[in-house]
Amino acid sequence: MKLEMEKLIAHLKSQGFVFQGSEIYGGLANSWDYGPLGAEVKNKLKKLWWDFFVKRNPYNIGLDSSIILNPKVWEASGHLGNFNDPLIDCKSCKSRWRADKLIEEKFTDLNVGGWSNEQLEKFIQENAIICPKCQKNDFTQIRQFALMFKTHQGVVEDEGSVVYLRPETAQGIFVQYKNSQRTLRKKLPFGIGQIGKSFRNEITPGNFIFRTREFEQMELEFFFAPQDEKDWFQYWLDKVVYFLENVVKFDKDNFVLREHEKDELAHYAKRTVDIEYKFPFGTGELWGIAHRSDFDLSQHQKVSGQDLTYLDPNTNEKYLAHVIEPSVGVERMMLAIFCQSYEEEQLENGERIVMKLPYTLAPYTVAVMPLQKQQKDEAFKIFEEILEDFDATFDETGNIGKRYRRQDAIGTPYCITVDFDTENDHCVTVRNRDTMEQERVSIAELKTYLGNKLS
Ligand code: GAP
Repeated sequence: MKLEMEKLIAHLKSQGFVFQGSEIYGGLANSWDYGPLGAEVKNKLKKLWWDFFVKRNPYNIGLDSSIILNPKVWEASGHLGNFNDPLIDCKSCKSRWRADKLIEEKFTDLNVGGWSNEQLEKFIQENAIICPKCQKNDFTQIRQFALMFKTHQGVVEDEGSVVYLRPETAQGIFVQYKNSQRTLRKKLPFGIGQIGKSFRNEITPGNFIFRTREFEQMELEFFFAPQDEKDWFQYWLDKVVYFLENVVKFDKDNFVLREHEKDELAHYAKRTVDIEYKFPFGTGELWGIAHRSDFDLSQHQKVSGQDLTYLDPNTNEKYLAHVIEPSVGVERMMLAIFCQSYEEEQLENGERIVMKLPYTLAPYTVAVMPLQKQQKDEAFKIFEEILEDFDATFDETGNIGKRYRRQDAIGTPYCITVDFDTENDHCVTVRNRDTMEQERVSIAELKTYLGNKLS
């Protein structure tokens, strides 16, 4: 059964995963906050990424750079010149669209990435592409729309104080490449990973948390010698696919790999492969793996006047490192995980909504519950002990059936019930989220049992 986005959004909101931003003031368009459970999933996802791509990789180190950088960074990176979208207005209903997306949504096989504004305008005219809102073909000329959020630093709001919110975390890494390499005495090849907020004044945000103006990225810039014969692009592509399948447990059938055409490549890229996820509203980019060559380091070297070359200790040669960049959005990845996990099941005694989240991403892995008030003290004691080693919650309101449904709805893999027999047999009932099977487990063995099941 096809997942309906409205149902998923309503569910995530009602269970405390995602709230509309600034809701009590009527909201702020396309902004979302992560509720108590969403914050847990987000933190767990970031930790999994950090562990896999930074801490447990033999080459890599981490960084945490600023959101606001010297504006020269954006001049060097090309963002001030190139980071804009072709904007078109409907003269009839005044709605605003991205000209390239209007075409690609109608002609799904077409890729208009490298087209000029004139080409886009002509195509829209000749193919009578209409405004999705009012169905008229009556558009303005295309204007380029700068995607970077602009603000002022300090008290004087003049041209000299203009700064930008970073549109990607990558540039902070390039700017600190030399410091990181020197202080950690790193030899090529090595990578620098970073997780942090990015901001883009998107013309057409939407599809819930898929495209927003404020989001987080998890980016790795992997530096290597240009003459290095190892295929590092393939190495990182394989790592990303491994992470998706084995760490966050994505179903293979839900994503596809797409190589960018030459005319579609970003201004900095020599090669790009996107991992696209089959979202309910269409297939969309989840993770991009780009070969950025020495574009960024050579630009920063030129604009800053600093020597960013690497002195090869083996050959005594000096050269600029080349870069492979796997880059993914935290919220986009969460959306894919939510889409994959949400299930509605018909049971003999009604329906249940269950979030089959991977155990590693579930907000709670264990819920402890007393069957009745009389078992509350005993259950709470067990809860406190479990809490030392597991992400546990205590659930005592409503009948036991309701409590199971509630934990299913937020994806808790195991529920532990303390009942009338516990006092005598020193056992509890453990229920599995996915199979709903129940087992009696002795309290003494409980932590080992859960440890095995959740590993
Ligand atoms: N440093 C390269 C870079 O930023 P990108 O393809 O523009 O490349 C990388 O972005 C990833 O960041 C995307 O694959 C997507 O997961 C996420 N992303 C980009 N724009 C986003 C937005 N407006 N909202 C949410 N996620 C976004």
